[in-house]
Order: sequence, then C-alpha cells, then structure tokens
Amino acid sequence: MTVEGKRVLVTGAAQGIGRAIADRLAAEGAAVCVADLNADGAEQVVAAIRDSGGTAVSAGGNVAERADIRSMIDLCVAELGGLDVMFNNAGFNRPQPFLEVTEEVWHQIMNVNALGVMMGCQEAAKTMIAQGTGGKIVNTASIAGREGFPSFVPYCVSKFGVVAITQAAARALAEHDITVNAFAPGVVATPLWEQLDLDLMEIGDSERPGQAMEDFSAGILKGFAAQPNDIAGTARFLASTDSDYMTAQVIMIDGGMVLV
Ligand SMILES: NC(=O)c1ccc[n+]([C@@H]2O[C@H](COP(=O)([O-])OP(=O)(O)OC[C@H]3O[C@@H](n4cnc5c(N)ncnc54)[C@H](O)[C@@H]3O)[C@@H](O)[C@H]2O)c1
Repeated sequence: MTVEGKRVLVTGAAQGIGRAIADRLAAEGAAVCVADLNADGAEQVVAAIRDSGGTAVSAGGNVAERADIRSMIDLCVAELGGLDVMFNNAGFNRPQPFLEVTEEVWHQIMNVNALGVMMGCQEAAKTMIAQGTGGKIVNTASIAGREGFPSFVPYCVSKFGVVAITQAAARALAEHDITVNAFAPGVVATPLWEQLDLDLMEIGDSERPGQAMEDFSAGILKGFAAQPNDIAGTARFLASTDSDYMTAQVIMIDGGMVLV
C-alpha cells in the first residue's frame, strides 16, 4: 500500500470530495488530519474513520486565515508525528450573472479558493522543509480552472489561480523534494452542487431543482455526474509513491467533459 503510514492533512474534509479522500486514504493505512471550517462535521468524520479502525484527528479552522492553516498543520504534526501530504481542497462557489458580479463575492471566493490554496502550499512546504523529508502537495482545481463559465466568474478565476499556484509552487519547491500537483473534478454530487443547483435557480439559470446539474452533466462523455468516491482514486494516486516522478500537473477527473 503506497500511502500506508503517510501523514496526510485534507482541508474541507467534513463532507463531499475532501471527506471521500480522507476516508479512502485512512482505509489504506494513512493517518489523516480532517480539517474544516465545520469543526463538528470534521469530528464526525474522524469518529467514523476511527470506528472503521483507521487513524484520524480533526482540526477546525478557516483556510482563508494563515494562522488557522498554521494551527491545522501544527495539530497534524503534534498528533500524527509529521506532515507528508497536504490536500488544499476546501473551496466554494457563489454564482452571479456576469454583469452582476460584485467585488464582495469576488473577494470572498478568491480569499478561500485561491489565497487559501497559496497559503496552504506555503505553510505545508515550510513544515516539510523543516522535516527534511520532502513531501506532496495536492490542490483541488476544477473544470472551471480550464474554461470560463458565465455565472461563475470569481470561481473560475480562483480555479485558474489554483492551476497557476500549482505550477509556481512546483517550480519553487522542487529543490526541497516537494511535488505539487492538482486534480480537476467536473460535476460531482456533493453538498456544494446541491447549493449550486438552488443558487442557479435563484439567478434564473435554471427553472427547477436538479435542472442545472442535468444541464451541466449533459456534455459528460461518461454520461453522468461523479460521486465523491469517483475522485478518491486519483487523489490517492497523487498522494502515493506511485506519483513520485510527477509534479506541476493537473489531472482532469471529469468523466470527459472539458477536453484539454
Ligand atoms: N462538487 C463539484 O462538482 C466540484 C467540481 C470541481 C471542483 N470542486 C472543488 O472541490 C472542492 C471540494 O468541493 P465539494 O464539492 O466537496 O464541496 P462541499 O461544499 O461538499 O465541501 C466543502 C467543504 O469545505 C469546507 N470549507 C469551505 N470553506 C472553507 C474554509 N474557508 N476553510 C475551511 N473549510 C472550508 C466546507 O465546510 C465543506 O465541509 C472545492 O475546492 C470545490 O471547488 C467541486
């Protein structure tokens, strides 16, 4: 098992994709720090992992605050003995029609999805450099980091930013034996999409519950949206020794939706 014994921190792991990654890696023998703004949710994920015989600890905090990221990592090091893999996964979307995008929503999204990822890379790297062990950083991008969507402008900018941060960090950190990669999901059935579906109805992009998700999923070659667990295998690969010779890459995991 190529992730066995690795100390892994996953942000945004109380639900959705982050939770699926935490569950999969813990099941394969990694020790996982489940980090989330929703501290109670993170604690519940930890309890479930422990019930299944895995090793996990929880850390509450906001990835838009450097001090919170620092304390998540410090907790991981104190409780699990170090940090080998950092998943900068926390993120959110708030759609607005292109002509109505506000500065407020722009900054909210950029602070979490882009600045949060950059600071996550920085703070994880500082710890890995101090350990002298190298490490892996994996960022959650999106199809929205490869194409612009009219009602998702700040989100798209933030996810294009995740691609840029991934490439820049890979170049900056290679000398410390730290690899930095990203994966880019398409449409994944998580609480994020449940909220997005409602928000897109509210701004008039769709007419009934479920329609926006159906519309977005129509172009997927596989023919259906992903479940969170469909993302976990790619995430596991990027956390494992199998990807040791890979850095600065973005893996599309979208069922064949955005062909880049
Ligand atoms: N669901 C999709 O279709 C999809 C597609 C492409 C990319 N993504 C990306 O995948 C990642 C996970 O998305 P998801 O669908 O699992 O979302 P989700 O809303 O189901 O889960 C996100 C988790 O992140 C946490 N979070 C949000 N803001 C945070 C913050 N500031 N600090 C700490 N934790 C925070 C939330 O509390 C939540 O538990 C996000 O970066 C998202 O942009 C999702």
